Amino acid sequence: MPERLPAIALLATGGTIAGAQSEDAAHAYRAGAVPVGQLLAAVPGLERLARIQAEQVANVGSQNMTHAVWAELARRIEALCRDPAVDGIVVTHGTDTLEETAYFLSLVIRHDKPLVLVGAMRPATAPGADGPANLFHAVALAGNAAARGRGPLVVMNEDIHYAREVQKVACAGVNAFASPNRGRAGVMRGSAASFFSRNDTLHSTASAFSLQALEAAGWPRVDVVHAGVGLDGELVDFLAARSRGIVLAGVGDGNATDLALRALQRAAGAGVAVVRASRTGSGRVARNVEVDDDALGFIAAGELSPQKARILLMLGLSLTQDPAALQDFFDRY
Ligand code: SIN
Repeated sequence: MPERLPAIALLATGGTIAGAQSEDAAHAYRAGAVPVGQLLAAVPGLERLARIQAEQVANVGSQNMTHAVWAELARRIEALCRDPAVDGIVVTHGTDTLEETAYFLSLVIRHDKPLVLVGAMRPATAPGADGPANLFHAVALAGNAAARGRGPLVVMNEDIHYAREVQKVACAGVNAFASPNRGRAGVMRGSAASFFSRNDTLHSTASAFSLQALEAAGWPRVDVVHAGVGLDGELVDFLAARSRGIVLAGVGDGNATDLALRALQRAAGAGVAVVRASRTGSGRVARNVEVDDDALGFIAAGELSPQKARILLMLGLSLTQDPAALQDFFDRY
């Protein structure tokens, strides 16, 4: 009996993996230009790996990813997770906000079916395009039972990352993704996956969050303030009148000038959720180390980057306003 190939649903959203180079300038290109059928046709051996059904959910550069596309993507993934004829799901995505979509999906998709996000740093029409190899690995991983129950995975440049850990750490080059705090989840070699660790943070079937609650709460607005030398409180005061939450991309251990901290204290006093994260790119922002979170009413982001803290805070605010309950989310997700 010939072995049954896994059935993989591929949802395309655009990005450089679907980018086309300009004919006049080799380094210039437009993300989200190539349709999904063309992407698949460029991957040698894919037909021996899986039976693939592809859908174009969007075709945008991921700097233009929206909550509306997130909602559509999440609903489509939920439906595919419930379909017993589908073994795994691949999402193609621009690399700029890939880590945000992966983390968002890890918190709202309540299933453990393999779900793999993938992008490329070079456009589909470039010499040495990395998209075909990345797509090959993503399809192989989505068809692998070992990918089940780990939450959404990101595959780039032969590395496998957990959604919570992965970060784009360089603006160019095929080796642009890393998991600075806890390390890579594993590696791909050809169509084989090797995992180095389990994902022991809360996600997927263990997540308290849902798209339904988020939509009912109107996608609570959360903004990020980037700290630096001489930051005053004006931007924080401005945002405090508009946002349900503010994430500080703080210097060092999630810190900022006295003026900015005083403005954040005023915001917290007015009921805005204030989260301190670090702009450094790695490490853990703990409570009450340099900043007295208990006295100021702040929440510490732990290991989450400012961009991921923004997503968790938005989801947290869909369930509660209580800073202690929000801190609990940051301690566990
Ligand atoms: C994008 O994020 O859509 C553009 C950049 C990329 O995909 O590498």
